[in-house]
Amino acid sequence: MFLKNCWYVAAWSKDVDRELLGRVLLNEYIVFYRKEDGTPVALENRCPHRNLPLSEGRLVGDDIECGYHGMIFNCDGDCIHLPGSETAPTWATVKRYPVAERNGWLFYWPGDPSKADEALLPDYHQYNENEHWIKAQGQTYVNAGYRLILDNLLDLSHLTYVHGSTTGNRAVAEMAQLTTELDGDSVRVTRWMEDIEPALAFRQYGGFKNNIDRWQMSQFIPPAYININNGSVDAGVGADQKTRNHDQGDWGFVVYHAMTPETETTTHQFWTVAGHEDKVPEHMRELFVEQMNNVLREDLHIYEAQQRAIDMDPKALNRDANPRGTIPADEGLLAMRRVIRRRYGDEKKTAQAAD
Ligand code: FES
Ligand SMILES: [Fe+2]
Repeated sequence: MFLKNCWYVAAWSKDVDRELLGRVLLNEYIVFYRKEDGTPVALENRCPHRNLPLSEGRLVGDDIECGYHGMIFNCDGDCIHLPGSETAPTWATVKRYPVAERNGWLFYWPGDPSKADEALLPDYHQYNENEHWIKAQGQTYVNAGYRLILDNLLDLSHLTYVHGSTTGNRAVAEMAQLTTELDGDSVRVTRWMEDIEPALAFRQYGGFKNNIDRWQMSQFIPPAYININNGSVDAGVGADQKTRNHDQGDWGFVVYHAMTPETETTTHQFWTVAGHEDKVPEHMRELFVEQMNNVLREDLHIYEAQQRAIDMDPKALNRDANPRGTIPADEGLLAMRRVIRRRYGDEKKTAQAAD
């Protein structure tokens, strides 16, 4: 179940250049490249002649020459040259996808191109390229469906059990007051913890010796984006409830994730974990990046293991989680799933009406 009329991250902008990049996204094979002037292009990655992926061919100026029989396609997806012929066949076209770039990510629009409005691009990932933020960043290929990753990021009680050597401790799971809010189609889960023991990372980087007040805000933005803010102050100092969603207090960090399904059970995950330079002492920056990379690996292990268990469950619909019940911490992820289901239904209705 994929939403189509939305922007998805296709790649880090820096990874798309004058080489042809073939990538499967939402079960479609797409080739990405840049024109000579740097403009990104996304085309269906299947030659309409004998179906060789166009990414097996080569760039000729701004066009692609198929690597099998030499048809040339321009960046609108139209064949403009058939070797040995005066004219190009009109049937020889491939689909062109709208693309756009913002803050280090290259986005593409898999749905109706007439709806691809750049005003709909997400902009939560504001520090992706900011030099004043110390960043662990990457792209992870995940053998799990995108909703399992969203689940993970909307229930941060898992820090206690999955990231106990860095950001989690028992208090995170046991002591949080949980709030789940809907803002349009965005779901925001806030976890507020008062007077708790600081987890190791908070002692290491934040220098806390005593208990802290700590907050986590995890926001889902359709189709599959997550924006997380983490902050903390000495216990009792207080933190303005209104600024908690974007303020890190005395120590904290931001986390950006963009999940782009490859198939129902595999996902490209693009991510950044960033701490402001004032909050990550210079001599600890390498350690911060290493630890945050490790946090991502710890999560990867979890959702890939979940997917393997789900794949062996004959009752799991669409190879997605098949829970026998829910717990209070599921509130945010259940809200997220309701949004996706409703939007999916809306897209289906619109498509049927157009047929
Ligand atoms: S397969 Fe591309 S030109 Fe024949
Ligand atoms: Fe995690």
